[in-house]
Amino acid sequence: MERATEQFANNYFPELSATHYVATAAANAPFDELKKCCLFQLADEQRHLEMDRDVFERAGIPERDWLPAWEQPGTTCRFFRHVLELEDSIEILVKANFVAEGAAGPATFAVLADGAEARGDLLSAVNHRARVRDETRHISYARALVRALIEEDGANLGVIQRWQDESLHLFAEVAHGGRRREWWAGFLDSYYKIALPLGLRQTPITF
Ligand SMILES: [Fe+2]
Ligand SMILES: [Fe+2]
Repeated sequence: MERATEQFANNYFPELSATHYVATAAANAPFDELKKCCLFQLADEQRHLEMDRDVFERAGIPERDWLPAWEQPGTTCRFFRHVLELEDSIEILVKANFVAEGAAGPATFAVLADGAEARGDLLSAVNHRARVRDETRHISYARALVRALIEEDGANLGVIQRWQDESLHLFAEVAHGGRRREWWAGFLDSYYKIALPLGLRQTPITF
C-alpha cells in the first residue's frame, strides 16, 4: 500500500495540475483552434482527476496523506510544479502535452490498465483505457503544433529542444538512483518515437 500510495499520487496530482495548466493555456491561447483543443482537454483531465480521486478513496487512504506522498523526492512533482508556473500557452503545451504526455501517455497507462485487468478490477481497467484514448488526442494536437512551429521557422527547433531538455531533466527525478529503470526506458522510447522524426535530438541525462 505504501508503494501504491506514491503511484496514486503520481497519477492524481499530475491530472489535477493538468486542469490548471491547460486552463492557463486556453486563456492565453494565441488562436481560437488552439483554445478549443485546450478546452476539450480540460474536460478530459477533469474526468481523469475524478477517477484518480476515486481510486484514493476506495483504497481508504486519508486525504492528508495524498500531497506528502507526491512531495517526497523521486516523484513527478518537480516537473508539474514547473509547468504550473508557466504562462505561455505554447511552452505549456510543448512541455506538458508533447514531452510529458508523449512519453508517459501510451506507456504508463496501458501498463496500469493491464495490471488492473489482471487483478480483476475491470472498472479501473476501463478507466485507464479511456485515459489512453484521451492522452492520444492531447499528444496529437501538441505534435501538430510542434510540427507547424518548426515548419514556420527553423529557429523554433532550438527553443523546443531547450524546452524538451528542461522537461526531461525535471522528469528524470522519477528514475534517480536507478529507480524504475525499465519504466524510464519505455518513457524515453515513446517520446523519442515522436520527437526524433521532427528533428529533435536526445537529451543527455546523467544520474
Ligand atoms: Fe489526463
Ligand atoms: Fe492529458
